[in-house]
Amino acid sequence: MLPHSLLLFLLFIIPTSIAYTYDENGVFFSFDDGMDKSMSVLSGVASITSGALMLTNGEPQRKGNGLSFMYGPISSFSTTFVFVIIPPENLGGVSAHGLAFTLSNNIGFMYSSLAAQYMSLTDEASNGNITNQLFAVELDTFKNPTFVDIDDNHVGIDVNSIVSINSHTAGYYTSNDTFSPLRLASGEPMQVWVEYDGNSHNLIVSLAPYLERKPQQPLLASTVNLTSVLGNNSFFAGFSSATGTLIRSKHCIIGWSFNTTGEAQLLDYPAMSQIIADVRQKAQNRSHIPKDIILPTVAPAAFIVLVILIVLYLKKATESADWKIEGGPPYFTYKDLATATRGFSDRMLLGKGGFGKVYKGMLQTSKQNVAIKRVSPESKQGMKEFIAEITILGHLRHRNLVQLLGYSRHNNNLLLIYDYMPKGSLDRVLHDQDMPVLNWVHRLNIIKGIASGLFYLHEDWEKVVIHRDIKASNVLLDTEMNARLGDFGLARLHNHGTDAHTTHLAGTWGYIAPELARLGRATKATDVFAFGVFMLEVACGRRPIVHDSGDPTLLTDWVLHAWESGSILTIVDPRLEDYIREEVELVLKLGLLCSHSEPSARPCMRLVLQYLEKDAALTDFQPCFFHLTSRDEGFDQYILSCPSVATATTGLSGGR
Ligand SMILES: *[C@@H]1O[C@H](CO)[C@@H](O)[C@H](O)[C@H]1NC(C)=O
Ligand SMILES: *[C@@H]1O[C@H](CO)[C@@H](O)[C@H](O)[C@H]1NC(C)=O
Ligand SMILES: *[C@@H]1O[C@H](CO)[C@@H](O)[C@H](O)[C@H]1NC(C)=O
Ligand SMILES: *[C@@H]1O[C@H](CO)[C@@H](O)[C@H](O)[C@H]1NC(C)=O
Ligand SMILES: *[C@@H]1O[C@H](CO)[C@@H](O)[C@H](O)[C@H]1NC(C)=O
Repeated sequence: MLPHSLLLFLLFIIPTSIAYTYDENGVFFSFDDGMDKSMSVLSGVASITSGALMLTNGEPQRKGNGLSFMYGPISSFSTTFVFVIIPPENLGGVSAHGLAFTLSNNIGFMYSSLAAQYMSLTDEASNGNITNQLFAVELDTFKNPTFVDIDDNHVGIDVNSIVSINSHTAGYYTSNDTFSPLRLASGEPMQVWVEYDGNSHNLIVSLAPYLERKPQQPLLASTVNLTSVLGNNSFFAGFSSATGTLIRSKHCIIGWSFNTTGEAQLLDYPAMSQIIADVRQKAQNRSHIPKDIILPTVAPAAFIVLVILIVLYLKKATESADWKIEGGPPYFTYKDLATATRGFSDRMLLGKGGFGKVYKGMLQTSKQNVAIKRVSPESKQGMKEFIAEITILGHLRHRNLVQLLGYSRHNNNLLLIYDYMPKGSLDRVLHDQDMPVLNWVHRLNIIKGIASGLFYLHEDWEKVVIHRDIKASNVLLDTEMNARLGDFGLARLHNHGTDAHTTHLAGTWGYIAPELARLGRATKATDVFAFGVFMLEVACGRRPIVHDSGDPTLLTDWVLHAWESGSILTIVDPRLEDYIREEVELVLKLGLLCSHSEPSARPCMRLVLQYLEKDAALTDFQPCFFHLTSRDEGFDQYILSCPSVATATTGLSGGR
């Protein structure tokens, strides 16, 4: 027996690029770049055609999903989209089976769900199970008595089940409060609004004809605690749809916007009108009726042979072109990578991380040395993580970041190809007694390099990326001892535990800011904290938790203690022979400032860079400042002289 779900999982997931913005303050999505940029996962027959998300294509018994990875737990949101449902010709306007705006904790439902009346949301066994962690607003064009559908043209609110908790015949209330019905599957475009208040848990749904204003009175209102449905982690938002055996409509999403800080951005109507025209044109050109595949009449043996052939064919196909990320890094064949690593031999092993093994390899074509990270996701979560990593990493380019060169997939293994860093990790260079001592010039250069890479992630790139796991072992060195930050896009994903009731804290002990440990929320300020500890670690040659004698001490406390007892320079790495006192002092004091227990005392990375480059002078702090909290007198005067990362404006909604 074939692992059915795994098969679908491997065959139909085609990640594309993401066009939303990460920010610690909320989730901001700007879909004005078009549907193609909004989707992180397309599955089934879903495709981006003429700028529209075509969920189904008129073929029988097909599923289509287009989902976008949304960073951070669900909160209040406002979303709107324009759709068109084109019913099959010659069936007198009968349509099936509709489409649904979908929020889900993970993408697992995509391959376990069924087509037809299940609309690629659930299946018979899981329907109604709270472990689905699924919410949907269905635009249902088929009356199914089993699911207590009110009619064949309704809008419904679904929580973990295809049986709606609330539904209403499709239509809208006009300004004089009269109900005006709409036919969902009329081939005409319509707009939907879904608004959710994270405090009151009120959820309202409105529908209107294309180009008309949002109705004053919503069509549906319900109270749903989406936090309890979706959990506290990141989630996926998007669309699901399916066709039946005989009735096979085309379900298209023309435009979509999603906002957690205010009203969903107005859609670009002129652009959408063009897309609608194109979609209709295409639908007319291809109005041939595809032949049904009538499986039950095929002899069972022949059927099995057919399945095997299809599987073999698709397996081959997925090995290469099918599995591509638009605008992402290049795809490598597994064979190339196996050759490069001598069949992933243990002799080529560079190390083991939380996510899998890393091998050294040499690409035969370019004779280039690379590091290949082999990730074996044990769960469907793994795919989510993989998608998140490559779509983000593929776009990041900075001389102080480890470059992702490409990726590949083999059975259940995901492979990421990175620049090879000949000198390995800083952790080894710094703490391994057999390694030659790293001189101060190199150390300062490494600190400046990582500061510059982190500044790029926080402020200089088009989207804000929180690293979440800054530490010496994630800093890699090239032949000239230039530092590069690696493993971003991975740490963040530790949060997605399979158990919704435990939140796995991302990060490494000693580098975790107090508020991160308390609230579990990573921000730019928690990254700055870890970077501060990292600076102290590099200057002192000590790990973040010092085990000298007696109780383990935090490196920050240890440095502060040295400062208070007279000279901060007494804790400098004793192996360092030549160094410039002012530079070391600056690094130590800046390290303390960055790892201040109050987030509002920590400077932003732009300022950190200025201090390190001596473009700005560090305020003359007294050690006692590091014991103050934001409620203490005198705290604010320091903050005024040093703008903190906690108040740094991000201004990133909608990108740069
Ligand atoms: C819900 O799903 C979980 C996990 O798939 C399963 O263990 C459980 O038995 C299901 N509950 C019901 C009521 O079917
Ligand atoms: C309400 O408005 C609609 C058009 O918007 C109109 O057709 C209808 O006659 C109006 N009804 C009343 C009672 O005014
Ligand atoms: C909503 O659900 C979350 C998670 O289950 C829970 O912590 C919270 O108290 C709920 N809110 C209300 C108002 O019931
Ligand atoms: C989200 O809402 C805020 C506040 O209304 C607005 O400034 C911003 O442009 C919106 N962003 C998007 C992407 O809709
Ligand atoms: C989600 O977070 C809220 C507040 O932080 C908490 O009360 C609730 O228990 C959490 N729920 C889950 C399922 O972790």
